[in-house]
Amino acid sequence: MKSSESIKKNATFVNKFLRKELRGEPKQLYDAAAHLIIHGGKRLRPYLVLKSCKVLGGKQSDAIAAASSVEMIHNFTLVHDDIMDNDEMRHGVPTTHNKFDMPLAILAGDVLYSKAYHTISSKSKLSPNHTTQLVTKLSKACVEICEGQVDDVKLAENKRIPTEREYIKMIEKKTAVLFEVSCAMGAICAKRKEKDVRNLSSFGRNLGIAFQITDDLIGIMGDSKVTKKPVGNDIREGKKSLPILLAIRKARGSDKKKILKVFGKSKAAKKDVQTAVNTIRSLGIEEEVRKKALQYATKATKSLDSYSGSDKNEMVSLLDFVVKRSL
Ligand code: IPE
Ligand code: IPE
Ligand code: MG
Ligand code: MG
Repeated sequence: MKSSESIKKNATFVNKFLRKELRGEPKQLYDAAAHLIIHGGKRLRPYLVLKSCKVLGGKQSDAIAAASSVEMIHNFTLVHDDIMDNDEMRHGVPTTHNKFDMPLAILAGDVLYSKAYHTISSKSKLSPNHTTQLVTKLSKACVEICEGQVDDVKLAENKRIPTEREYIKMIEKKTAVLFEVSCAMGAICAKRKEKDVRNLSSFGRNLGIAFQITDDLIGIMGDSKVTKKPVGNDIREGKKSLPILLAIRKARGSDKKKILKVFGKSKAAKKDVQTAVNTIRSLGIEEEVRKKALQYATKATKSLDSYSGSDKNEMVSLLDFVVKRSL
């Protein structure tokens, strides 16, 4: 099965579970919590939980609670991330704080976060020992996401252009950790030994890095009709993402001026942002960034060397989907 079809099939399964969990009173709170989930999302992280479990011979029914909880955590981070990034649109609709209001958006994030743990502890069919392992992994990941998000904001505030290593460290925390833990949780749901949890974790971490590198590229050079979120905002917000790092390092003279004119300038004119994007494109940054993402994807593939079967093959094809994607 093609990756995109397999992702969609799993998404339907996860959506059903999520819909049931995200109901309650006051209705406004749950509407705000479900807002982004209803209007889109690829469900990549729950896909990884379910697939990792299956690659290791586990049952999907043992992993669905964990898969859904990871998607709740992901959406909690999105709701709060859109507040801190001043983003107005996601999935082609107003972001949660934009559609509802700030207190509701903060609480929608909080309720998603809390429901994730409640779902694991009350709906997982696993032993108390396995359930504790899931909670331990997921909570540790959440701590690292918060640390990574602070790094993201601080790097943006700082005038200094970070090194590529600092950038990778930041995205490992803010993004790759949740991919890593999704795969690890799948292995735990399959009740497998530590070695398997480690292999799957390594796959997820490297896939997550490749994912965020590609996301940062799309955030600058993507087509907003496809991504359904405004492109150019990362430039205005001064986000120190890999395409920018490379472009600023490589650009000279008037090219550099065109980029710096809009970088970190929240009120930069649309046409000047477009000029900067064209300049970045002309420097050949897309090729360099895609190559970097591919290096991490190749590393991820190696972590699955000792497994076989159609589910393993689907996970490997996901890497291709991640590094070539435009959404
Ligand atoms: C967006 O992730 C946030 C990042 C970590 C870059 P996704 O692209 O997976 O979000 P969905 O598909 O909209 O849920
Ligand atoms: C992704 O943040 C990481 C988290 C949400 C934790 P970004 O700010 O890079 O992603 P988008 O572009 O808003 O989806
Ligand atoms: Mg953002
Ligand atoms: Mg952000």
